[in-house]
Amino acid sequence: MRCVAVAVTVALMLSGSAVAADAAAGKAKAAACAACHGQSGIATAPDAPNLAGQPEEYLGAQLKAYRSGARKHEVMSLMAKPLSDADIANLAAWFASQQIELKP
Ligand code: HEC
Repeated sequence: MRCVAVAVTVALMLSGSAVAADAAAGKAKAAACAACHGQSGIATAPDAPNLAGQPEEYLGAQLKAYRSGARKHEVMSLMAKPLSDADIANLAAWFASQQIELKP
């Protein structure tokens, strides 16, 4: 019984985040990030990390941490400041949805 309740809760949480985020809106917003991270999240600046294919939850959490000041970086703190929760969800959805392939 408890297992079913947990499974339902997890399913609701997952579908909730998928519905809330709009990757197409995130793509449009990502124009502001492209100079360093690339439009699709493959970094173009040597000191910027790749965002493509990183977990949606992780990306959202990092942007919120920059915005709140919990994570500090001269540029990223400024970039994250004006972002709304919806912007962050959309940007995270966009970059997380980019498929990357490893070629060892
Ligand atoms: C001028 C260059 C620049 C721009 C523009 C920029 N970033 Fe960044 N970003 C960086 C750098 C450099 C870092 C690494 C910062 C650090 O060490 O904490 C970073 C880190 C990040 C991280 C953390 C990645 C990780 O792996 O932990 C995220 C998420 C991120 N940026 C998202 C964005 C988004 C979304 C935008 C556009 C709204 C954006 N950035 C615009 C340079 C930039």
